[in-house]
Amino acid sequence: MKKILIQITALCLFLSLPVLFVTGCYNDSKEYLYPELSGDCDTTNVTFALSVKPITDGNCKSCHSGSSPSGGVNIENYTQTKALADDGRLVNVINATGGYPLMPQGAALPDCSIKTIEIWVAAGAPNN
Ligand code: HEC
Repeated sequence: MKKILIQITALCLFLSLPVLFVTGCYNDSKEYLYPELSGDCDTTNVTFALSVKPITDGNCKSCHSGSSPSGGVNIENYTQTKALADDGRLVNVINATGGYPLMPQGAALPDCSIKTIEIWVAAGAPNN
């Protein structure tokens, strides 16, 4: 009798494992699909100085600064970034859309950074 109980307990544990897995994966993918819901991607107060510039400084400036920047494009200050926002290239390159090459080259920005830049551009790329 005792042996059967142990077997049943073991069986129950075994059967519940996949359920735990599936639940875990579901939560992960929800955060992946909607990062703004996870708390990790705060897009409520996007500004150039505090949101966008840190992204371009960290991911674009190494190639797009100085006297001979890659592609002849400088991304060092507001005026330069605003010009790229207005002609559509900024949003196009980070999404590899419109026939533009993906930037940064080879590996896209994290979803949250792309979203942040898109929100700033959609707001008219203000100098805030
Ligand atoms: C490792 C170097 C490197 C990094 C980092 C990089 N770029 Fe570039 N970028 C290039 C090169 C090289 C070109 C020109 C060649 C080409 O078009 O592929 C270019 C071209 C561009 C162009 C002009 C595209 C066109 O066809 O008019 C834009 C806009 C641009 N990059 C934006 C960005 C932005 C925004 C980032 C950061 C999110 C970034 N780049 C990061 C190397 C880089």
